[in-house]
Amino acid sequence: MVGVTETSDGGYDRIARPYRWLEWIAFGQSLQHSRICLLSELPLVDRILVMGDGDGRLLQQICRSQPGAEITSVDQSLAMIDLQKSRVASAGATDRVRWVCADGRQFSPASNEYDLLVTAFYLDCFTEFELGQHLPRWLSGVKNGGFFYVAEFVQPTSGWRAIRARVMLAAMHLFFRRQTSLTNHRLVDLTAIFDLLPIDEVNRAERSGNMIRTQIFSVR
Ligand SMILES: C[S@@+](CC[C@H](N)C(=O)[O-])C[C@H]1O[C@@H](n2cnc3c(N)ncnc32)[C@H](O)[C@@H]1O
Repeated sequence: MVGVTETSDGGYDRIARPYRWLEWIAFGQSLQHSRICLLSELPLVDRILVMGDGDGRLLQQICRSQPGAEITSVDQSLAMIDLQKSRVASAGATDRVRWVCADGRQFSPASNEYDLLVTAFYLDCFTEFELGQHLPRWLSGVKNGGFFYVAEFVQPTSGWRAIRARVMLAAMHLFFRRQTSLTNHRLVDLTAIFDLLPIDEVNRAERSGNMIRTQIFSVR
């Protein structure tokens, strides 16, 4: 493993093991479904960058759906990385994954090094200002013609679903603010941020009353 941070994020270290079960209590299977639902739509690629993968359930599926890819996984929690390692081992892919334990805000990929950038429920860890600073840099690691695969919460705009989402997302932000170093108090409008990037949507899936969105973008 490279780039070990001086301190792992204690909050994410603490919730790493129960993370899966807490997620199941709050959202059932919806998050895991949304993480992986469009993986089969991606072409086979050579090099993948995964940011903030968490406990390895997405990474394990990427290893299976991309059997020839070399993967870099960046996460600031050592406990999350330990879980990733055991899930990647069970997919028989340990020799294809390089782990970087680091704060993503300090991480700069070499430009055009990757064919695919993957983030799931990770962009929500950052403020609008931080995303404006860091997302373009992470994306600069992807070649022209490569892809950006992202799953995130979305705030529906009207009806009872909007009210339900507002309550659930407020509770979730409160939980993460209490347990981790999260500073975000609200969902960032990712559409406005994505509109400023050199990316074009090629596929989208929505779930849980349009509260969770998975997208594939091509990178130009
Ligand atoms: C909310 S969890 C999402 C985990 C997983 N991707 C999922 O689909 O549920 C955020 C993950 O990103 C990591 N993370 C949060 N902030 C980070 C940062 N600034 N740099 C690197 N990793 C970070 C956490 O350790 C955790 O594994």
